[in-house]
Order: sequence, then structure tokens, then C-alpha cells
Amino acid sequence: MNVQIAPSILSSDFAALGAAIAAVERGGADLIHVDVMDGHFVPNLTIGPPVVRSLKRVARVPLDVHLMISDPDRFIDAFAAAGASMMSVHVEVLPHLHRTIQAIKALGVKAGVVLNPSTPVVALEQVAADVDFVLVMSVNPGFEGQTFIPRSEGKVAAVRSALDRAGNVSAPVEIDGGIDLGNAARVVAAGARILVAGSAIFHAPDPERATRELKAAAAAALTASAPR
Ligand code: DX5
Ligand code: ZN
Repeated sequence: MNVQIAPSILSSDFAALGAAIAAVERGGADLIHVDVMDGHFVPNLTIGPPVVRSLKRVARVPLDVHLMISDPDRFIDAFAAAGASMMSVHVEVLPHLHRTIQAIKALGVKAGVVLNPSTPVVALEQVAADVDFVLVMSVNPGFEGQTFIPRSEGKVAAVRSALDRAGNVSAPVEIDGGIDLGNAARVVAAGARILVAGSAIFHAPDPERATRELKAAAAAALTASAPR
């Protein structure tokens, strides 16, 4: 399994989203991470399906839509129609998580589940065989530019084990929050195979170059650790 880089456009200039996407694509971005926030589940408001539809027209790589909203079931159809290739939902808000995962897959979209920093890995156990990927939050969701919570590497490893135990060896673990050149190698060694990065890429003087450097650091860490 390769390591993929997913720049989060939350940290970019919203007046120039197309240019931001083009820059990170030139730098080798594998996915574009889109943070959807509703002001209820997290204390911030961001973007909805109309913006995703516009991003889809300009992006050459798949859109990875992270739903930080209280009632994702209401919006899954709209984000799929808007062009999401991957959609992740938080286990903390879903009493019928299995049903939601099946609903996302039925729309032809890859289904992921997200664990907040305080959510135990066991919350994933009963759906570990069903998911296409798992997103481990390494900050409390809501804002870019926060500090990586160090225990998150152990969480990545525990999620990797849970997926493997369920026979879901091809589902990657994604990590989101505070990822930069200083910790990329560590999270890859722990088993992360999709790295989200917002401020480390878009607050850098040259986002294209920052993407390329993060990707090179992740790839080097993968070579150094046992292949999986
Ligand atoms: C946080 C979002 C993240 C965030 C990442 O709620 O889910 O995707 O934009 O930004 P950085 O990399 O700056 O932590
Ligand atoms: Zn995110």
C-alpha cells in the first residue's frame, strides 16, 4: 500500500480554491481533503455541496469529504451527487453506523469512519470489516493549525490491528490534524497510509513544494518501515 497525501483546503484561501488545488496537484497530491463543518458537531462552519460541486469541476484527483456534522445521513446523497469519491462520517454521531456505511457505499462512494481523539478504537470493531478506510483524528476537529496529539500514533497502530483482525487488510488508515514534516515519518511507521495536511501545506510559502516534501518524507518512511 502506498502513502497518499491529502491536502486539506480548509487552510487555503477560499477566494482562490481552484488555484490552491492546482498547486497541490502539481506537487503530487493524491486526494483533496474537504472539511465539512456544521456549527453543531464542531464549533465552526465551512462548506457544503455547492462548493464541492465546483471543486469537482477543477480537481483532477478524487475528493475526500470529511463530514463533521451532527446528522450526516441527511446529506450523504447531496455530497455524492456533488462529486465526493470518499466520504467519512464520525462514529460519535451515528447510532446506526452500519446502515450509514452501507448507504454511502450504495452511492458508489468509498465509506470511511472517523474517530475523535477521545473515542476508543473499540467503537470501530463491529464495522471494521465493512469500511473502505478509517480516519483517526489527531486533533479535536473544528479548526486547522492545531497541535498533533502524540498518543495518536498508538491509535493508528491499534486501528490498523483492528482492521487486520477483521480481515480488512486493504482498508487504509488516514490521519488528520497537525501533520507536518516533523511527524509524518512517525505516523507512517505506525501504519497511516493517507496523510491529511492543511496548515503545513497551505501556510507554507510554496504549497506545491510543501506537498512534494511531505510526500517524499512519507514515502521514505514507508521504505524504511516494513512494507504492508
Ligand atoms: C480539523 C480538520 C482537518 C484540518 C487539518 O477539524 O478535519 O482536516 O483542516 O488542518 P491541519 O493540518 O492544519 O491540522
Ligand atoms: Zn479533516
